[in-house]
Amino acid sequence: MSFKLICTTVLLTLALSISAWAGGAEAIFVEKCGSCHAKGGETAPVNPADKAGLVWKKYFKRGRHPGNLSAHVNDAEMAEIMSYLQDHAADSDHPVAAAIPK
Ligand code: HEC
Repeated sequence: MSFKLICTTVLLTLALSISAWAGGAEAIFVEKCGSCHAKGGETAPVNPADKAGLVWKKYFKRGRHPGNLSAHVNDAEMAEIMSYLQDHAADSDHPVAAAIPK
C-alpha cells in the first residue's frame, strides 16, 4: 500500500468517526425517544436539558418510565442515549434544550 493511500484511509476513518461521535447519539435519541415524544405526537417532547444528569440516570435505573421501553430501544441504543442525555443535561457544560423541537 502506498503512503498516500494509507494517509487517505486514516483521514477518512477519522472523519467518519468524528461525524458519528457528533451526530450519532443525538440522532438515535431523536429517532427513538422522538417516535413518541414529539410536538403533536403521542406525548410531549423531551430533551436532555429537561433534567440534571443524575436525575436522568436515576429515572431509567429505577424504571420510572411508563410502559416497556425495551420493545422500542435496545440496550446498545439505550446506553448511547443515556450518555447523550447526561452529556447535555441541564447541569452539563453543553445543555441541549431542543433536539426534539417543542
Ligand atoms: C412508545 C412510546 C415512548 C417512547 C419510545 C419513549 N417514551 Fe417517554 N414517555 C411515554 C409516555 C406515554 C410517557 C408518559 C407521559 C405522561 O405521563 O404524560 C412518557 C414519559 C416520559 C418521561 C416523564 C415525563 C417528563 O417529561 O418528565 C420522560 C423523562 C421520558 N418519557 C423520556 C423518554 C426518553 C429519554 C425516551 C427514549 C429513550 C423515551 N421517553 C421514549 C412514551 C414513550
